[in-house]
Amino acid sequence: MNKKMLLTMLVLTLLLLLAACGGGGGDAAESGGDNAVGDAANGEKLYNQVTIGSASAPGCVTCHSMEPDVVLVGPSHAGLGNRAGSYKEGMSAEEYLRESIVDPDAHLVEGFTPGVMYQNYATELKASEVNDLIAFMTTVK
Ligand code: HEC
Repeated sequence: MNKKMLLTMLVLTLLLLLAACGGGGGDAAESGGDNAVGDAANGEKLYNQVTIGSASAPGCVTCHSMEPDVVLVGPSHAGLGNRAGSYKEGMSAEEYLRESIVDPDAHLVEGFTPGVMYQNYATELKASEVNDLIAFMTTVK
């Protein structure tokens, strides 16, 4: 084999390698980031789990009922999607719900004590799980 042929083969191999690597570039666009729009159906599943997150923390349903005025440990979530956007001026329903999960004591529902809602969801839930829960809760009318 002469030098020129070797060089041509080398270039072709490099081109093939480049083509193979370039194909799978869609990963970064997955729904993981903060503020990405979540999947409400998956959020409902997560919401109804008895335990949730990387440390198997108590799930939302262990403390929250969807029946109006039923207080388990936390307030009823009946109609949550209707009122979430009106608690704080300038805060959308999505923003309020995100804050309620990742920083539960930032806003306290009247009559409830700080520190009772589970405090570590921010680190134990994936960003996509938080987004999905938010998407579900905005549909609870
Ligand atoms: C250990 C009991 C407990 C668990 C588990 C719990 N919560 Fe709560 N939650 C509370 C309490 C108590 C409050 C009221 C105090 C406050 O506002 O932080 C509350 C308040 C909230 C509010 C504000 C409700 C409103 O009407 O403004 C939201 C939203 C919420 N929780 C979502 C969740 C979600 C989502 C989960 C599951 C990932 C969850 N909670 C798990 C006890 C809990």
